[in-house]
Amino acid sequence: MKSFEIGAGFGLDNLKLADRADPTPGHGEVLVRMRAASLNFRDYLTVIGQYNPRYKLPLVPGSDGAGEVVSVGPGVDEWKPGDRVMSCFALDWISGIPGLKQVRNSSLGGPIDGTLTEQRVFPSRSLVAIPDALSFEEAATLPCAGVTAWSALATETQILPGQVVVVLGTGGVSIFALQFAKMMGATVIVTSSSNEKLEKARALGADHIINYRDKPQWAKEVRKITSMEGADHIIEVGGAGTLEESLKAVKFFGHISLIGILAGNAKDLNLLPILMQNVRMQGVLVGSRNALEQSARAIDAHKMKPIIDRTFSFVETVSAIRYLAEGKHFGKVCISIP
Ligand SMILES: NC(=O)c1ccc[n+]([C@@H]2O[C@H](COP(=O)([O-])OP(=O)(O)OC[C@H]3O[C@@H](n4cnc5c(N)ncnc54)[C@H](OP(=O)(O)O)[C@@H]3O)[C@@H](O)[C@H]2O)c1
Repeated sequence: MKSFEIGAGFGLDNLKLADRADPTPGHGEVLVRMRAASLNFRDYLTVIGQYNPRYKLPLVPGSDGAGEVVSVGPGVDEWKPGDRVMSCFALDWISGIPGLKQVRNSSLGGPIDGTLTEQRVFPSRSLVAIPDALSFEEAATLPCAGVTAWSALATETQILPGQVVVVLGTGGVSIFALQFAKMMGATVIVTSSSNEKLEKARALGADHIINYRDKPQWAKEVRKITSMEGADHIIEVGGAGTLEESLKAVKFFGHISLIGILAGNAKDLNLLPILMQNVRMQGVLVGSRNALEQSARAIDAHKMKPIIDRTFSFVETVSAIRYLAEGKHFGKVCISIP
């Protein structure tokens, strides 16, 4: 079988197709023919060596994926050949609060081999059935970006109808957050650097839109929209470069989900607003299999479709990662695996 491997060293030029032996499932394991993966910003950072330069090479990147069961090993009775499945992000994190090693040592696409491969063996318990209405590409967007947005809005806090959620940017996690927050009855404010993307966000249900390039002090706009109260919840994917503005936009006793560092990871920051506003800041690291199951059920019940900007073929994976890194996409970038 063929797999994409970061081989001789980190860097996009070192991400190449390699031949590997076809895997066979052992006890409690399932062999899956991968049909799709989606790209996450972490996959790009992993390939270029900025996510964790200590990851052992060769490494197959890819944090999420979907495919068909080919065969099952002894002791597996919940899956059969032909079943459509998606993988969990951290194979050993089933539910609740996990041990550090459970997550760190079992995360796909670093440190363990990921999903940009034609076949992969998974522990039976680390797979979840794909909702019938979703294609393999759509399903592949759930385990990392979808679950992260779900964890922020449904696990770490529970969004109530009428609450105001601010979603930063229009990448994979943020567009899932827009869709889930609308599903939960929230009023959603989306920020973006592009008016064209903001119009797409509006078409998906965004109640208010703000161009953060035209309005770098976008928190003032959030305050105006919320009668100066501020937002209940902020999906913070920018990190150090946007946190100051998020702290101005969040309401007294509001919640910030700290998810990404697209706008940098270090900066002098005035911490006073966090205590004076009694802000709850919650780091979010994807989520458990339980969160994947919950989000899949919600998507099924609400007939929600994940938003895919563009699908590349398997052999175009390097171009697809370059495309993701350019940030022109809206929602998810997917890879179709033959
Ligand atoms: N903690 C976790 O478990 C977890 C899970 C998944 C992702 N992440 C992290 O979350 C972040 C987003 O991931 P992703 O996969 O959704 O990335 P992505 O799809 O590549 O998102 C890129 C988009 O982010 C927006 N953006 C960039 N800089 C921004 C800024 N200064 N202010 C507001 N928006 C900005 C841009 O939107 P516009 O083009 O509309 O301006 C850009 O198109 C990354 O840092 C990623 O590593 C963390």
